[in-house]
Amino acid sequence: MKILITGGAGFIGSNFIRYILKTHPDHRVVNLDALTYAGNLENLRAVAEAEGGGPRARYQFVKGDIREVKLVDRIVADGVEAIINFAAESHVDRSIDNAGIFIETNVLGTQVLLDAALRHQVQRYVQISTDEVYGSLGPTGKFTESTPIAPNSPYSASKAGADLLVRSYYETFKLPALITRCSNNYGPYQFPEKLIPLFITNALSDQHLPLYGDGLNVRDWIHVEDHCAAIDCVLHRGTPGEVYNIGGNCEKTNREITRIILQELDKPESLIRFVKDRPGHDRRYAIDSTKIMRELGWAQNYNFQTGMQETVTWYSHNREWWTRVKSGEYRDFYQRWYGNR
Ligand code: NAD
Ligand code: DAU
Repeated sequence: MKILITGGAGFIGSNFIRYILKTHPDHRVVNLDALTYAGNLENLRAVAEAEGGGPRARYQFVKGDIREVKLVDRIVADGVEAIINFAAESHVDRSIDNAGIFIETNVLGTQVLLDAALRHQVQRYVQISTDEVYGSLGPTGKFTESTPIAPNSPYSASKAGADLLVRSYYETFKLPALITRCSNNYGPYQFPEKLIPLFITNALSDQHLPLYGDGLNVRDWIHVEDHCAAIDCVLHRGTPGEVYNIGGNCEKTNREITRIILQELDKPESLIRFVKDRPGHDRRYAIDSTKIMRELGWAQNYNFQTGMQETVTWYSHNREWWTRVKSGEYRDFYQRWYGNR
């Protein structure tokens, strides 16, 4: 199978490319990525080196934007059988800072991909969405696939808009499209603007850990490789037109996550700074994954404690990677976002 993977130079996309090439020797991947601040070819250096650049290579990189109609059309026309759309602006705080690019990439970019999928009759279109489209939970209950969509940030609203477009292409044109909605991922190669890598790398540099509000917001954590395995199930065995929730069954408050990181690194709690809350901050996410487990046979492999130990070790051993990533554009965002908090 030849798969177009968009956003493959980001966190989950790069982990997925490694995963799919390892688990399916008969699959080939074209990675289309615009290399925004979050895209980094270093994440895939080993794959690119192992595959080489010859005609038999199973991995090919194309630098480009999913909003470029002609480019996307040319790639899909060249024998693409499935599209998995990871490409997105993915950080909630940035969507509060500046929403425009979120609508451009996440909504309009999705429409360009859907049109190309339709024109060239791809067999599978998988939209990588998020549990954030469901909004926020009270102290009990979990999101199921029939929970109404109620996004609270410009990021989640743009992802919900894309989901509705995907649904409409299935209903109107019978495009064999599927949607996944996963909870918070952690693991290697995550851009250090997100909670876990930000706090690990700040702690390693003895910088403050800026905890929003009372630090009691809850997220449901899943290791990125478990998410990749779930996408693999949906790609090969999912039913077109369906939505699949994916969760870690691992609810933790942000305070708990912070303490785990400080303990792993043997750093003092005095590094914690409670700062002004994120506007519209969703209180709690929790995912019910019964459908994908029962219908597609997906199961988690990672235990959170081991996964976190491995992740902390990965960031400790890859200081060069995140030092480079945290310089440049990110430094300006950090100053603007956290400077006066
Ligand atoms: P990321 O920000 O690390 O990576 C996004 C990638 O998309 C980058 O490589 C970037 O260069 C690329 N990109 C951005 N705009 C583009 C454009 N216009 N054209 C082509 N490429 C473009 O994001 P991530 O955390 O890996 O998330 C990947 C997907 O998974 C996103 O769709 C996100 O909404 C979804 N998701 C993320 C999580 C999570 O916890 N990180 C959970 C559930 C779902
Ligand atoms: O649930 C899936 C979503 O998870 C994905 O769709 C998003 O792409 C991904 O970014 C993530 O969104 P969150 O907003 O939950 O992740 P983030 O890492 O930004 O924040 C996690 C929690 O930590 C949240 O309650 C806010 C809090 N936080 C975050 C940062 C960056 C802090 O307290 N301080 C911080 O500096």
